[in-house]
This record gives sequence, C-alpha cells and structure tokens, in this order.
Amino acid sequence: MRVGVFDSGVGGLSVWREVVSALPEVPVVYLADQAYVPYGDRSPEEVRARVLRLAEWLTQRGCALIVVACNTASALALDELRAQFRNVPFVGVEPAVKPAVQHTQTGTVAVLATHNTLRSQRYVGLVNRWGEGVRVLEQPCPAWVNVVERLNFYQRAPRLLTSLVEACILPLLEQRADVLVLGCTHFPFLKPWISQVIERWRSTRANAPTVTIYDPAPAVAKRAQHLWLERAAGSFTGTRACSSSSARLREFWTTGDAKDFEDIARVLLGHPVDAHRLTL
Ligand code: DGL
Repeated sequence: MRVGVFDSGVGGLSVWREVVSALPEVPVVYLADQAYVPYGDRSPEEVRARVLRLAEWLTQRGCALIVVACNTASALALDELRAQFRNVPFVGVEPAVKPAVQHTQTGTVAVLATHNTLRSQRYVGLVNRWGEGVRVLEQPCPAWVNVVERLNFYQRAPRLLTSLVEACILPLLEQRADVLVLGCTHFPFLKPWISQVIERWRSTRANAPTVTIYDPAPAVAKRAQHLWLERAAGSFTGTRACSSSSARLREFWTTGDAKDFEDIARVLLGHPVDAHRLTL
C-alpha cells in the first residue's frame, strides 16, 4: 500500500516533502501532470477530467490514500474524486483563509492563488465562512507557476525573478495586508524571494506591519499522517511499510519530460531524484 501525491507539476513537491517527513517509512508515489501544467487557466471541465485520470492511475498503482497537492485541483474536483473513488481517502489543499483571518492585526489579508482557485465555489465558500469583518484581497499570480516549473532557469535571472515577485506582492503590502496566504502549492518554493521583497519594502516604511506567510503544507501532511495511521489499524500496512532504503520508497512520475522533472526537482528539493515518464 502506498500514498499517492499529485499536482499539475512540481509545485506539489512542497507538500510531498512534508508528507514524506510525516510518514518516513511509507512508500509514496508522486505524479506531476506536466503535459497539462498549468491547471490555473484551463477550463474546470478539463482539469476535472485530468484529475480523475491521475487518481485512477494512482489507485491502480496501489495508492490507498491520495493527497491532492494542488489547490486548483482540490477546488475544482475534490468532491468528484471522493464520489468516484469511494474507498480511497483524499486529502485536499485549500488556502489557509481561517488561520489568516484569525492572525491579522491590520484587518487585511491576501490570498495568492490561481485564477481557477479564486473563482471556485469552494474558495468563495471559504471566504464567506471565515472572512467576515476582514478584508480579503485576492491576487492571481499565474506567472509564478511557470517560474517555479523553470526555477533552474529563473535563478540565473534574479532581477527578473524579483520583479515578478514584486509585481504580485507590493500592491498587497501597500494595502496593508499583514498575512499572505500561499494558495498554490508552487508558491512556497518562492518563499525566499517573497521574504526578501517584504523585508525590503518594510525597511522603507515607518510603522510597517510584520507580515506572516501561510503555507498549508504541514497541516495537509499532518492530516495525511492521521488518516494513514487510522487506516493502518485496519487494512493498511502502517508507517513501517517495508524495510527498503528511503530512496527506494520514493517514486516520481511525470506526464512531461522525465529529465526536465529530475533537473527541476533537484533544485527544489536539494537532492537528486529518479523520474519516469508516463503517458496518460
Ligand atoms: N500547484 C497548483 C495549485 O496549487 C496548480 C498550479 C497550476 O497548475 O496552475 O493550484
């Protein structure tokens, strides 16, 4: 039995790294749908169709728990996944609106996500439920997905990278947002640049608020760990799934180019991985 983790691309690795650290001895299969990245601007129907295919493949590969490491896929297809695969628990990702609203001192928070996530009923429901009395700014950052997918290239163009980050962040800071919610799993990989932009901006403003960045990945991994351990008492094999070395417990698949995936994953994770190509 394995855990499956999927995303449109490499962004879900920000969730994957938390999942493998919460369940170190459980085999985990990562699947990146890079032939279709980005999901953020595709039609909801197309995203749903892709996501159902990925989930089907993961279940065929023995995944008994699936982490939808993609806000866009979770926003558009989580209900359908649960309805279609009734025996498989799914853990989704959603923008951390509730903790952001509870944390803000200025009364303004900002959610950075894809267009599809921000337009989804699931997201609108979240804001209606938790956002009362607080100003919730919504910032689509479609360019960031592409930047993370090619971070190995963009790192060699630091000025361009910084200006792309500034373009999304500075207007939010100017409106006194003091919590930035990373509502796309690609974005945590830009945290060093986001923090730099924030600190530079704060150094030029008197009484600038302290700004907090929320990434839901640790909470998602905790939920996955909880579900896995709960099921381990039943049909799953537990955290000690087998005695292979941890590298052998990790499988990486992409519908894009395997070598490209390996190159970018090495940059994002800080260690090499072996990836396989999959046609779906
Ligand atoms: N990483 C994804 C998310 O969390 C998808 C980004 C995209 O493919 O546009 O929304």
